[in-house]
Amino acid sequence: MQTQTLALFCALCVSCIAAQPADFSQMKTCKRGSSDYSSCMRLAFQENWPTIVRGIPVIDLPQLDPFHLDVMSTDYEFGEVTGKIVVRNVKSYGLAKTRFLSIRSNHEDNRYRLEIDLEIPKMFVEGDFKSDGTIGSFNVMGKGEFNVSMEDVSGTMTLEGEIINDRWVLDKFNFMPEVGNMKVWASDLFNGNKELTKAALTFANQYWQILYRGMLPHAAKSWNAYMINLCNRILSNLSFSKLFP
Ligand SMILES: *[C@@H]1O[C@H](CO)[C@@H](O)[C@H](O)[C@H]1NC(C)=O
Ligand SMILES: *[C@@H]1O[C@H](CO)[C@@H](O)[C@H](O)[C@H]1NC(C)=O
Repeated sequence: MQTQTLALFCALCVSCIAAQPADFSQMKTCKRGSSDYSSCMRLAFQENWPTIVRGIPVIDLPQLDPFHLDVMSTDYEFGEVTGKIVVRNVKSYGLAKTRFLSIRSNHEDNRYRLEIDLEIPKMFVEGDFKSDGTIGSFNVMGKGEFNVSMEDVSGTMTLEGEIINDRWVLDKFNFMPEVGNMKVWASDLFNGNKELTKAALTFANQYWQILYRGMLPHAAKSWNAYMINLCNRILSNLSFSKLFP
């Protein structure tokens, strides 16, 4: 069940790449310090989003809908339950419909921070997974396919970092979204035992809110590290003063 939560993150946090592509002439930008900066930024993100979602290969920006993740691994621990989950060949759908609700920015000395409130009405994530864990002294392995569907995903995404040689270098990324509804499925969670897998899925779908909250800090840790890398690779190709004039 933790797998699904991880996959959720893979899907969601990708929207961090809301930077503008190399061809600025086509993109709406906003003048920093202008009185309507926040509302201008919100509109800019919303208007540029369809272009961003398609991906921009020259700046290493991948397609975001569907977004493809090769592999990601997360260690987790809550109470008696510890283990590790690896997801592979993950595809997530739904980011194209992202709605930008409001944006706050802060520019002080050489640091720039964006806080982006957003919501995604519907997401679907699918892929392969492998889990290896223990519940007390009981060993539990799972392996196969999974999928997760979610509704009303929303939260604040924070991006923060130093501006070095006109490049924005992130050292902080955070996104811990709320989810309105979630449904998970996996082919095998319990050493090939169909009955236990079925029971676990029923349990997970009933108590997904609790499981999600428990898994969030662990998944966020893997996710934030992944996203800082991805964003910085893209941002290293973009002039800060052109992106945020
Ligand atoms: C997830 O996969 C299962 C098994 O293939 C399938 O029955 C189910 O419909 C899928 N869920 C969604 C939302 O497509
Ligand atoms: C983007 O950055 C990578 C390495 O950081 C570089 O190889 C590539 O040429 C850059 N592309 C553009 C369009 O600047």
